[in-house]
Amino acid sequence: MNVNLDRALKLLLDGDVVAIPTETVYGLAASLSHPAAISRIFNLKGRSSNNPLIIHVADTSQVIPFAKTLPPGFELLAKNFWPGALTIVIPIDLNKVPEKARAGLPTAAFRVPAHPLTRQLLAQSGPLVMPSANLSGKPSATTSEHVEADFGAAFPVLNGGPCEKGLESTILYFDGAQWEIIRQGALPPEAFTSILGYTPQIARKKAGEQPLCPGQLYRHYAPKAQLLLTKEFAPDMQGVVVGFEGRPYPSACHIIPFGPISSPNKVAENLYKVLRKLDDEGVASAWVDMNFPDDGLWSTIAERLNKAAQT
Ligand code: TXA
Ligand code: MG
Repeated sequence: MNVNLDRALKLLLDGDVVAIPTETVYGLAASLSHPAAISRIFNLKGRSSNNPLIIHVADTSQVIPFAKTLPPGFELLAKNFWPGALTIVIPIDLNKVPEKARAGLPTAAFRVPAHPLTRQLLAQSGPLVMPSANLSGKPSATTSEHVEADFGAAFPVLNGGPCEKGLESTILYFDGAQWEIIRQGALPPEAFTSILGYTPQIARKKAGEQPLCPGQLYRHYAPKAQLLLTKEFAPDMQGVVVGFEGRPYPSACHIIPFGPISSPNKVAENLYKVLRKLDDEGVASAWVDMNFPDDGLWSTIAERLNKAAQT
């Protein structure tokens, strides 16, 4: 159910959970000062209690009081990428963030989102914790209709239109020497090169070690439909194909396009919409065309599709 800005603000201040737009994906928001609302987010999503939440704030100055120390480069990153699709993990003063929100970690993740409605809201609400507004394991929500499909038509949603980026924020963590990407996202590694003077590596979990980003442990982005990833299509193939506009596919196939190969931005914007459409249309399995470049945003798109295809 759509609610306006004033109503969303009142609900949050009263300790309710509200879905709100960001430029990446919709989030399920609760005030950082309402521990019961934070617990409710975990219940609503079916989220594991050891998967911490990102704290969203109106501007960089609101992060400083939480910090135990600020890693070198923090201010440079904040200045260049906030408001925007970057989340930064920093060591925090443990008393200032409820244990539930940080899943017992000595760090917390922060982001200043860019969506104008949510910026207005944050300026009045104070810090909000906000995971993506989807049931755990399912594709994220990039429209208010997606949120209602997962949480019901009566669930309060501040409708900010379709999300511009369509992929979650990129999460950076300072490993003591360099920043590394612990979750790929809407900002590709190359976006940071000129600011940091190097391209941050994508952290790979070593055998037996916990990932730096707890969320990486869980199944993600998956529709009910089975995704069959392929780079080649034989002429006699049949069934549903998730592929690129204008590209020829076997004539017996039904094509669901995720955008033109010339625009990774458009493909990213449509990605979760297309995965959700498969379930809306009752598709049991679909081929997914993985024949695309591997640089920039494409690497995030490939990562999401690989995760979504895991059974
Ligand atoms: O774009 C986004 O980031 C969206 C919008 C709503 O802001 N939010 C989002 O939240 O994607 P969520 O909860 O779906 O994913 C947050 C990820 C999880 O994988 C979680 O494990 C990780 O951030 N995370 C949170 N706090 C962390 C911390 N202190 N250290 C490492 N990873 C953390
Ligand atoms: Mg999520």
